[in-house]
Amino acid sequence: MAKVFITGSADGLGLMVGRLLVEQGHEVVLHARSEARAEDARVALPQAEAVLVGDLSTLAAMRDVADQANERERFDAVVHNVGLGYREPRHVETVDGLSQLWAVNVLAPYALTALMHRPDRLIYLSSGMHLGGDPSLEDPQWSRRRWNGVQAYSDTKLHDVLLAFGVARHWPGVPSNVVSPGWVPTRMGGRGAPDDLDQAHLTQAWLAAGDDPEARETGRFLYHQRPADLQPAARDPELQGRLLDYCREVSGVALA
Ligand SMILES: NC(=O)c1ccc[n+]([C@@H]2O[C@H](COP(=O)([O-])OP(=O)(O)OC[C@H]3O[C@@H](n4cnc5c(N)ncnc54)[C@H](OP(=O)(O)O)[C@@H]3O)[C@@H](O)[C@H]2O)c1
Repeated sequence: MAKVFITGSADGLGLMVGRLLVEQGHEVVLHARSEARAEDARVALPQAEAVLVGDLSTLAAMRDVADQANERERFDAVVHNVGLGYREPRHVETVDGLSQLWAVNVLAPYALTALMHRPDRLIYLSSGMHLGGDPSLEDPQWSRRRWNGVQAYSDTKLHDVLLAFGVARHWPGVPSNVVSPGWVPTRMGGRGAPDDLDQAHLTQAWLAAGDDPEARETGRFLYHQRPADLQPAARDPELQGRLLDYCREVSGVALA
């Protein structure tokens, strides 16, 4: 039995991963942005051990959610699933002066990784759209560019790959992998999304709790448990290091 924490799991793929892991006999802790959403999560999955609460668009809440997590027993696996989508109509700046999309999609997984007791396995969520992500790491906060939600999302999903691979290099003993779930009809994906929703959560659950050695490999980008098309820049150790350095500077939190 594995203890697994899943961020952004009041709905969508995060909740689906939680439900599957519970069915498999694992202990699941969910996470929601607010008390009201936590109650929704409890109703949706009453077998969850707990629901941690915090809006992961602010650094204060990232620290608070990490504290809540660290008050519990160390997790065997963490699924960094929280995310905003590609249809954000405008640039929103957080109280920390960051792009909200970047804060939720990139800084929250980084900060929780750095602040939480180190689990045995780490899983991050990317997307096929990372292929269109800008590998320059220039202007991640969209302070110089005119807002483009698709580009901004694609950039964050490339950053998630760099984060997962950077962590895999930094902590070679902790399998750190990244999943492209397909374009599926969750609230984020939209009704017309063409890929199979029934398959979209399976790889995350397998990486979190699967017994076979393949589930414990590290530094992989997977779609349906198989290596998927990857932007070559994502394999660049220098770029991975720059992303980690940037997240450290912005958050003031370093990976141990
Ligand atoms: N669906 C797709 O086609 C697709 C494709 C590629 C990658 N992905 C990735 O898969 C992951 C899950 O996506 P999904 O499709 O399941 O999306 P979703 O249905 O919109 O669910 C996202 C979850 O994140 C939560 N969340 C968003 N902002 C938050 C914040 N500031 N603080 C706390 N929680 C927050 C949402 O909470 P609320 O419900 O309260 O808003 C929701 O529970 C994301 O990382 C996404 O980039 C999805």
